[in-house]
Amino acid sequence: MSQPTNQSWGGRFSEPTDAFVERFTASVNFDQRLAHHDIRGSIAHATMLAGVGVLSGDERDAIIAGLEEIDQEIAEGRFVWSAKLEDVHMNIEARLTEKIGITGKKLHTGRSRNDQVATDIRLYLRDAIDAVDSELLRLRTGLIELADREAATIMPGFTHLQTAQPVTFGHHLLAWHEMLARDQERLRDCRKRVNVLPLGAAALAGTTYPIDRHVTAELLGFERPAENSLDAVSDRDFAIEFTAFASLLLMHLSRMSEELVLWTSAQFAFIDLPDRFCTGSSIMPQKKNPDVPELVRGKTGRVYGHLMGLLTLMKSQPLAYNKDNQEDKEPLFDTLDTVQGCLKAFADMVPAIEAKADNMYEAARRGFSTATDLADYLVRKGVAFRDAHEIVGQSVAYGIDQKKDLSEMSLDELRQFSETIGEDVFEVLTLEGSVAARNHIGGTAPDQVRAAAQRARDALAQPHGAL
Ligand code: ARG
Repeated sequence: MSQPTNQSWGGRFSEPTDAFVERFTASVNFDQRLAHHDIRGSIAHATMLAGVGVLSGDERDAIIAGLEEIDQEIAEGRFVWSAKLEDVHMNIEARLTEKIGITGKKLHTGRSRNDQVATDIRLYLRDAIDAVDSELLRLRTGLIELADREAATIMPGFTHLQTAQPVTFGHHLLAWHEMLARDQERLRDCRKRVNVLPLGAAALAGTTYPIDRHVTAELLGFERPAENSLDAVSDRDFAIEFTAFASLLLMHLSRMSEELVLWTSAQFAFIDLPDRFCTGSSIMPQKKNPDVPELVRGKTGRVYGHLMGLLTLMKSQPLAYNKDNQEDKEPLFDTLDTVQGCLKAFADMVPAIEAKADNMYEAARRGFSTATDLADYLVRKGVAFRDAHEIVGQSVAYGIDQKKDLSEMSLDELRQFSETIGEDVFEVLTLEGSVAARNHIGGTAPDQVRAAAQRARDALAQPHGAL
């Protein structure tokens, strides 16, 4: 052997790695983010190895002390990363050996980077899921309180983005809340499948050492060891699942963003966002742009992209580990950063939304939004629904012509279209009457909104911040 090769696996090589290939295959630039979790995994592994007699107590203690120092060095930015050492795992192991000598090299007994990296990602993702979970709870809490405050605020409800029927703003906000409640359920379900221990699968087939995977699982807080070593080192479906959760969450946040953008426009003017969530224009002094919701809407695309990327990364891989899997980290990390940023922005912003109730009310009034109520009224008086529809259609056409909402017409005007209409019609034609009449579970009546907000609040107060 003429020239030095990689110290971790160079034994069978006769020439050093090409300099470009070394850079091309290295992952340390991005997988150093796993360092703390890598160290946690290694400490558990060393503890288990000593428990079954593969390491002595002294060796275990030296390894743990060395790893803890390294953890500190990394946290304080004193650690020197080397691309020559390829990835986070070998950087830490080399440093350990530098610190504690030959014992450092014993840490890798009975494991491989294949089960090590799969363990690291699961540990990392599990912590990240818990952080996302808390932020989602914060957002949901803010939405529930805003909905409760705005339980009786009337706005137009839309289908096809055309004014359809009046609804309460609180009801609209609780629709958002329902979307997020399902997202949280998906997140927690995903966590169960993340929380399984790959370590012990070694390279692919398990190891000949008398390891105890239940001990390692318990030390790391995993639910159980993975059942099959080939599957444990190879599949990244748990990361795909998280990204699928994230895609649905961002899809929901994007829909909410779209509404916030519309509502802050001068044409709608339904709400105001405080200045701290907006920016101005360098050339148009009058502008106040809803950048935060716009960006959240925009960031949705990259998360969808990561979902497609990860699915494609996995789709043709034969068992077991393949280097392809090194490509799982950047999309997963970016998905996490995006989700955390968007959730924080929303959780901070939602409680600060100011409803412009007068404008909402006016918009609902202008759009003939109680037309269905008039039809229902006629049906209650014995008119067939199709005929009622026709009568109301004629009334609306008259209203457009006369620039009058249904509730602004006199009884005589209304009776031109049906003799059945009586004085009591005005109770159903008002916006307040219209929303109050939809008084059943899931309906828009203010009382129902307050009750729904209370149910949602009670559910969040459960021990698990339940769903
Ligand atoms: N950096 C690698 C990855 O992220 C770690 C595992 C490498 N294993 C191997 N046999 N080359 O997947």
